[in-house]
Amino acid sequence: MRKVVIAGNWKMHKTQAAAVEFVQQLIPQIEGVPDDRELVLCAPFTSLGSLIDKLQGSRIRVGAQNIHWEKEGAYTGEISGSMLKEIGVRYVVVGHSERRQYFGETDETVNARLKAAQLIGITPILCVGETKQQRDANETEAVITSQVTRALADVNQYNLVIAYEPIWAIGTGDTCAADEANRVIGHIRSLLSNKEVSIQYGGSVKPANVDEIMSQSEIDGALVGGASLEPNSFAALAGYKA
Ligand code: PGA
Repeated sequence: MRKVVIAGNWKMHKTQAAAVEFVQQLIPQIEGVPDDRELVLCAPFTSLGSLIDKLQGSRIRVGAQNIHWEKEGAYTGEISGSMLKEIGVRYVVVGHSERRQYFGETDETVNARLKAAQLIGITPILCVGETKQQRDANETEAVITSQVTRALADVNQYNLVIAYEPIWAIGTGDTCAADEANRVIGHIRSLLSNKEVSIQYGGSVKPANVDEIMSQSEIDGALVGGASLEPNSFAALAGYKA
């Protein structure tokens, strides 16, 4: 069974105090959300511990936004899988386009981070997506095929979520048409050995378009940046109409 996963990616937003206030407001608003939807908040490292404390007994899972591939060592500024696991982190975003673009992430480092997450029992959310230029040059499928196959080399497909995030749709308000996102996600699924992997769409998802996105046959969830930053908005996304 493909699981629905609605995940917020807070990026570099919210202090610890703001994160705690967010969940205090969110919890009463998600009471009616069907139980079979997994709800995840991917927060900055500094807020993970307090979020997990505040969410004891709640259905909301907490995710990180990066993980290093080594168990420990001289890697200034990095965080290991055991550090995340110890405090109760359940998910981690890997290979987000912002990390690829600004921090030198490659398919090879993405592959190593995916393996490190799985080894410690954290579910990675692998992000893939094409640029506007690649889309205009009809390279979308080739780019996605290359990113997915390189990232997933020797990776277990049974503890994995994938997010299709066209780069031109991230933070721009320019959502990919739902049927086109569905088509590309179907292509990603065709590359997998485990057809039950949950595949999300990400890129300007908001309460106004989430119903249409989630009505698509191949789309199993959403990875949401801007619209995940307000509790009302995240609750509306979680409560999309099926
Ligand atoms: P957005 O970001 O929802 O603000 O477009 C999505 C993402 O980067 O994961």
